[in-house]
Amino acid sequence: MVLLRTERLLLREFMDDDWPAFHAVESLPEVARYQSFEPRTEDESRAYIQRAVAGAAEEPRATYDLAVVLAAERRLIGRCGLGLASPAFEAMLWYTLHPAYWGQGYTTEAARALVGFGFRQLGLHRVWADCDPANPGSWRVLEKLGLRREGHLRENVWMDGAWTDSYIYAVLDREWS
Ligand SMILES: CC(C)(COP(=O)(O)OP(=O)(O)OC[C@H]1O[C@@H](n2cnc3c(N)ncnc32)[C@H](O)[C@@H]1OP(=O)(O)O)[C@@H](O)C(=O)NCCC(=O)NCCS
Repeated sequence: MVLLRTERLLLREFMDDDWPAFHAVESLPEVARYQSFEPRTEDESRAYIQRAVAGAAEEPRATYDLAVVLAAERRLIGRCGLGLASPAFEAMLWYTLHPAYWGQGYTTEAARALVGFGFRQLGLHRVWADCDPANPGSWRVLEKLGLRREGHLRENVWMDGAWTDSYIYAVLDREWS
């Protein structure tokens, strides 16, 4: 079980009864806009949480998908995750936050803790992420964390009826401080 504390947040494992708070975030069109999923239905949110709970129990564990909780209010406001490659030298980073909390540094704070955990506790060599160039809030988070833009893939994603580009960002263990 993983539990990470930051100045303002807790990153903890999902629990079955997190699904309504998760759904309040992931059913919003502005949250799904640059992502590979449509706004989730209640059934999809329930199924997501069930998968996250099951994934946390897998051995070896391939996914660290954690609830981001505002510590002062014990309120679930998003998620932040690492998906490990096999063999587990590398992981993909992702994050999603309720719009009411955007622009306050919460995602950078959460992702910094999780990437640090990945390098220190999981012994990762490399953490990477992709994002839509039209989503500057996302790639700003990556740049604030110290990930470097390694690539710009042209029209590699079909989203909302159009081909979309991707930025690829990464950081290596020896670059992480
Ligand atoms: C992307 C997302 C996670 C950012 O979360 P956040 O908590 O607002 O991020 P932070 O506050 O830590 O940092 C955001 C940075 O982007 C900047 N930013 C946000 N929107 C921006 C915009 N439209 N143009 C330029 N910069 C922007 C902010 O100013 C901030 O940078 P700063 O600290 O230098 O001022 C959040 O917007 C979100 O959940 N979006 C929907 C889901 C999503 O797109 N996830 C990523 C998929 S790749």
